[in-house]
Amino acid sequence: MYLYGASGHAKVIIDIMKASGIVIDALFDDDRSIHELLSIPVMHNWAGESPLIISIGNNYSRKQISEKLNCEYGTVIHPSAIISPNASIGEGSVVMHSAIVQSGAKIGKHCILNTGVSIDHECVIENFVHISPQATLCGNVHVGEGAWIGASAVVIPGVKVGKWSTIGAGSVVVKDVPDGALAYGNPCRIKCIQAEPALRDIHERNQENKLKRIAVYGAGGLGREVAGGIQRINNASRENWDFVGFYDDNLEVGTQVSHYGDVLGGMNELNAVEEPLALAIAVGSPQIRKLIRERITNPNIYFPNLIAPSFKVLDLQTFKMGQGNIIQDSCSATCDVTIGDFNVFNGANVMGHDVVIGNYNVFMPSVHLSGAVEVGDCNLLGVDSVVLQKVKIGKDVTLGAGSVLMAKPKDGNTYIGVPAKKFDFK
Ligand SMILES: CC(C)(COP(=O)(O)OP(=O)(O)OC[C@H]1O[C@@H](n2cnc3c(N)ncnc32)[C@H](O)[C@@H]1OP(=O)(O)O)[C@@H](O)C(=O)NCCC(=O)NCCS
Repeated sequence: MYLYGASGHAKVIIDIMKASGIVIDALFDDDRSIHELLSIPVMHNWAGESPLIISIGNNYSRKQISEKLNCEYGTVIHPSAIISPNASIGEGSVVMHSAIVQSGAKIGKHCILNTGVSIDHECVIENFVHISPQATLCGNVHVGEGAWIGASAVVIPGVKVGKWSTIGAGSVVVKDVPDGALAYGNPCRIKCIQAEPALRDIHERNQENKLKRIAVYGAGGLGREVAGGIQRINNASRENWDFVGFYDDNLEVGTQVSHYGDVLGGMNELNAVEEPLALAIAVGSPQIRKLIRERITNPNIYFPNLIAPSFKVLDLQTFKMGQGNIIQDSCSATCDVTIGDFNVFNGANVMGHDVVIGNYNVFMPSVHLSGAVEVGDCNLLGVDSVVLQKVKIGKDVTLGAGSVLMAKPKDGNTYIGVPAKKFDFK
């Protein structure tokens, strides 16, 4: 069998393989400075050798690598582990010393069941999960893809732990934990909803490199507001962004934009950037925001959410948000609010319960969305406008300043007034 990843985690797997009488043919690693691990040669050009175990502790890295490699995977189980004949263990998974997996448990692919874990009857563990040493999952627990359960944590019967969430060491999880949460303590409480795993990964790599460079696309009024917002996020010690400047296709390179910084180029220059760079798209037209996003093809560019420190969420447990959103001062959301990608909330926006927002929408200051409002994609809601409860907005709708929308508008039209009526341009 072969291992991909010559890490500390691989050392433990090598011991388990030796104890189980599995021959280790070779190790592979992308880092060309590593030549051997525990006297086993480390090679760098994987050419389909299998069966394979991805011997990397980071859940997201295992997922990324498994998506890249097309091969047969092995399963490694230490002889001291007790696995019920009625349990199943997916390919690529590793079960360490003294782990116990009880009847009816289903363990996904590329999981790590670490030393001494106890997985009770009928638990479902999805792919790429890591259950750390001595953690105990009681019966019927469900752990979503990529979640990481810390050492000695306990999850009580029937609880669901969401995808790509992190449960701190020693926690006692007594209630369901949503996707992406960072939660810890006894009883386990949610501290925040983390960024998408891909974004988290790039953030972590940036932090390792001490890089957190950010730029703003669009050097107009909104661009300056966003640059100011970034300063305030830094001042509140929420993040440590290094603001490098603006990208704008309509201004000369070197144009100074207030006291914030200079124009560094346009789309071509942005697509040629060679280091990771966070970007905020600060353009007020929903359709142009979408166009800009679609034209950015450089994989070094990523899109964090930029959230003013004053943003208040009543219930973080039910709050969901994608990437690339800009939330300016004094906005608030109550419970069960879902926000997609690349929206702008320009200040003092209110989102009631069960509001669902798609992508590329622009909410001018003081827009109020009542309970259960749905907003699709590429809509622009003017200053001080109000959407009444349960109204569904589709796409490309413009709502005039001060208007009150009481019924579903037709896609692609402008509505103004109280109550808001379709406005026909003559
Ligand atoms: C939960 C965890 C991921 C949080 O890491 P983090 O975001 O870097 O958190 P910090 O270290 O900055 O701590 C933030 C606060 O949370 C507290 N905290 C952190 N982890 C905690 C835990 N497991 N239980 C209770 N409190 C915890 C800290 O004391 C700190 O409190 P303070 O603000 O009052 O000082 C991490 O602490 C943890 O438990 N990791 C699991 C490790 C593990 O099991 N490894 C197994 C490897 S095989």
